[in-house]
Amino acid sequence: MGTKGKIIKCKAAIAWEANKPLSIEEVEVAPPKDHEVRIQIIATALCHSDAHILHPQFEGGFFPVILGHEAAGIVESVGPGVTNFKPGDKVIPLYAPQCGKCKFCLSPRTNFCGKLKHFKNPMGDQKLMEDGTSRFTCKGKPIYHFMGTSTFSQYTVVSDVNLAKLDDDANLERVCLLGCAFSTGYGAVINNAKVTPGSTCAIFGLGGVGLSTVMGCKASGASRIIVIDINSEKFTKAKALGATDCLNPKDLDKPIQEVIVEMTNGGVDFAFECVGGAKIMRAALDSVTVGWGVCTIIGVNVGDNGLNVSAVELLMGRTLTGTSFGGWKGVTSVPKLAADYKNKKLDLDALVSHTLPFDKVNEAFDLMYQGKSIRTVLLF
Ligand SMILES: NC(=O)c1ccc[n+]([C@@H]2O[C@H](COP(=O)([O-])OP(=O)(O)OC[C@H]3O[C@@H](n4cnc5c(N)ncnc54)[C@H](O)[C@@H]3O)[C@@H](O)[C@H]2O)c1
Ligand SMILES: [Zn+2]
Ligand SMILES: [Zn+2]
Repeated sequence: MGTKGKIIKCKAAIAWEANKPLSIEEVEVAPPKDHEVRIQIIATALCHSDAHILHPQFEGGFFPVILGHEAAGIVESVGPGVTNFKPGDKVIPLYAPQCGKCKFCLSPRTNFCGKLKHFKNPMGDQKLMEDGTSRFTCKGKPIYHFMGTSTFSQYTVVSDVNLAKLDDDANLERVCLLGCAFSTGYGAVINNAKVTPGSTCAIFGLGGVGLSTVMGCKASGASRIIVIDINSEKFTKAKALGATDCLNPKDLDKPIQEVIVEMTNGGVDFAFECVGGAKIMRAALDSVTVGWGVCTIIGVNVGDNGLNVSAVELLMGRTLTGTSFGGWKGVTSVPKLAADYKNKKLDLDALVSHTLPFDKVNEAFDLMYQGKSIRTVLLF
């Protein structure tokens, strides 16, 4: 008895409200509609962006919702009109869609896709499917999707333009990290900042995103990779991945940016902000050299007004930029990144600090809040 065309009852973690642990519940997952795909999630990690939604000061939070956007799974069934996927395919859900037809998808200059509508808040986008309804129900209530992915559910439904197809032998417990952390950090270096050989780099924050940024800088041939974290336990791994200098702002008697500027004869060529928050964004921008320094914002700020930049800072030749999903056009690029992992050109293993059963999702959040994990992979 197949499940195609039928409602599937399965396990999911529901965020009923802000600032509360997730609740493991039985949910009903409706069959996929036009151009939709229903996926069995095998492995999902969590990212700090999932935690931002739960933050009481996150503007525009929406509940109840099934979070999760860094995962890999297997296609269970496809809706009418789906031609690129079939049951049994291994896939990665993508929060950054690639319709392939809009003016952004047709341009090599961006990975943005016109399917996104809420330009001011990408984390509040794609909370319902294209027809304005949800495929999830719990206790008779419709549940919001999250970023078009909702991977904290044993089964989820995504649009066929929010999905990357993998080879049959892909290791889902590792390539799930291509759904966000690795692709974002590594791509910020390669696609957005375009770090050049011999350059100096500063990376603020050594979570899954920051360490992937370290790997990108190393692969780009940076001569000096200065890493900054308030948790010195992160430095061992950062050094193993290519960091040359490790700084803990708590151990310094001057602002971190002053120390970096002194160490580098006026500032680094490239800075990457991988934490979130106005204060760290300011420190990252202050750390780049006048003339040509590029500061790339990756972290998301919650509960403050973001960065206040004066014209003069930019007139002096600094560039302030940012990235979403590391600039990758996901449908076409993520399969290549997965192949690079298989061929040992990329290291995803270094990012996995814990593997837990899915039911321990709240423990995984605690490990992240306490700074004890890099990435925790949850298995269904
Ligand atoms: N732009 C994007 O596409 C994108 C994608 C993924 C994540 N993000 C954002 O990137 C940020 C990092 O995500 P993550 O999952 O790697 O987070 P994480 O929680 O795994 O890591 C954050 C790291 O920052 C460190 N840190 C905290 N405060 C600090 C400070 N004041 N100075 C220096 N280091 C500090 C922590 O100790 C930790 O090591 C989050 O804001 C997340 O929302 C953005
Ligand atoms: Zn993420
Ligand atoms: Zn598009």
